[in-house]
Amino acid sequence: MKMRGFGKLGLQVSAFGLGCMRFPMIEKDGKTIVNDDVAIPIIHAAIDGGVNYVDTAYGYLSGLSEITVGKALQGGYREKVYLATKLPCWKVDKPEDMQALFEEQLQKLQTDHLDFYLVHALDGERWEKMKEFGVREFLTRLKAEGRIKYACFSFHDEYNAYMKIIDEYDWDMVQLQYNFMDIANQATEKGVRYAGKKGIPVVVMEGLLGGKLANAPAFIQEIYDAFPVKRSPVEWAFRWLCDQPEVSTVLSGVSSMEQTLDNLRIFDGVESGVMTQEEKDLIAKVREAYQSRTKVGCTGCEYCMPCPLNVNIPRTFSVWNNAALYGGLAKGNAEYKRLVEDGNDPEQCIECGKCMSNCPQNIQIPENLKLATADLK
Ligand SMILES: NC(=O)c1ccc[n+]([C@@H]2O[C@H](COP(=O)([O-])OP(=O)(O)OC[C@H]3O[C@@H](n4cnc5c(N)ncnc54)[C@H](OP(=O)(O)O)[C@@H]3O)[C@@H](O)[C@H]2O)c1
Repeated sequence: MKMRGFGKLGLQVSAFGLGCMRFPMIEKDGKTIVNDDVAIPIIHAAIDGGVNYVDTAYGYLSGLSEITVGKALQGGYREKVYLATKLPCWKVDKPEDMQALFEEQLQKLQTDHLDFYLVHALDGERWEKMKEFGVREFLTRLKAEGRIKYACFSFHDEYNAYMKIIDEYDWDMVQLQYNFMDIANQATEKGVRYAGKKGIPVVVMEGLLGGKLANAPAFIQEIYDAFPVKRSPVEWAFRWLCDQPEVSTVLSGVSSMEQTLDNLRIFDGVESGVMTQEEKDLIAKVREAYQSRTKVGCTGCEYCMPCPLNVNIPRTFSVWNNAALYGGLAKGNAEYKRLVEDGNDPEQCIECGKCMSNCPQNIQIPENLKLATADLK
C-alpha cells in the first residue's frame, strides 16, 4: 500500500481510505441491517492490506455503519487506523445537539476519541446555521480536550460556498467530491489546488462518481481499449486522482471483497506526478466523450428554483444527464419514479417560463423538461 503525505499535518496516510458507506445490507427479522459477515472481513482485509484510514458517518447505511465499524475495530484494529466520522448538521437544531450526537457516535464506534471529526456535507446554507450554533468553538474545544485530533469538513455545494467555508476556520482537512468528471463541479479542481496551497490535505470522496466511472459503457471502453497501456476504468480513475499531490487519500466505498482486493492492488501502484502526457490526454478524451452525451448543460446552481409547480428542475436534469452519460436508463427510470413520488416530476410544468429568466446557462427549461420526460418516463 502506498502511503502519502497529509499536508500540514505531516502524517503518513494510505492512498486507499476505506469508505464505509457501501457495504451490502440484508433483511433479518423484518429489519434491514448491514451484512456484517461481508462488511467486517472487508474492513479487516483492508487494514491488513495496509489501509490506515477508515471513513464513516452518523447516517451511513441507515445509521448502522458506525456500529459495524465499531465492531470491526475491536481486537487491536482501532489502534492501526485513523478513524473519521462526521457530525450530521441536519440533526442539529440547537447547540447542545452537537455534543449529544458526538457522544452517541463515540459509543457506537466503541472508542474514546476520533482522529478526524468532520462537519458533514456542508453547503453555504448549512455553514451559516452551524456557525450560529458555534460549531467552530465546539470543534476547537473537542480538540483541546483530546477527544478529537483533527477538525474537518466534507462538502457538497459549489465553488464560492467552498471558498467561504475553507477560509472561515483553521481546518485540518477537507473531504471533497472529486474525480476526472468533476473538475468543474462542486469545489472544483481549483478548490483542490487552493486547499493544497494552504497546506490543507484533501481526502477525496466519490472518486468513481459513486461507481459510475467503474462501468464504462461501450463508447468509453473503446477509447480505453485503443490505448497501448491496458488498465481497468477503476484503475485509470484512481491513478488520475493520485497523480495530484494535493490529494492525500482517496476514499473508496467498496461493496465486496473482490473490489477491496482490486483496490488494494491498484493503490499499491499509485504515485503523484507520474502520469505521462499521453495518459492525461487519454483521460481528457474519456471526459470529452462522456460530456458529448450530456443532454442539457445544467450545472445544478438552482437559480431556477423554486418552481411554482414544484418541479425539481436541477434534479430532473441531473437524472437525465446521468442516464445518458453513464448508460443507466433503467436507473434513470427508477429515479424518475422517485421524482414523481416526491411530487417533483417534470410533467407538472405549465411552461410559465419563470425559471428561464433566472437560468445563467440560458437553458430552454420547459422544452428540455418535456424531452427529459420522454426519455425517462
Ligand atoms: N461526506 C460526504 O458527504 C460523503 C458523500 C459520499 C461519500 N462519502 C464517503 O466517501 C466514500 C467514497 O465515496 P463513494 O463510496 O461514493 O466512492 P466511489 O469510489 O465513487 O464509489 C464506490 C462504488 O464504486 C464501485 N467500486 C469500487 N471499487 C471498485 C472496483 N475495484 N471495481 C469495480 N467497482 C468498484 C462500487 O460500486 P458498486 O457497489 O455499485 O459495485 C462502490 O460501491 C464513501 O464510501 C463514504 O465513506 C462521503
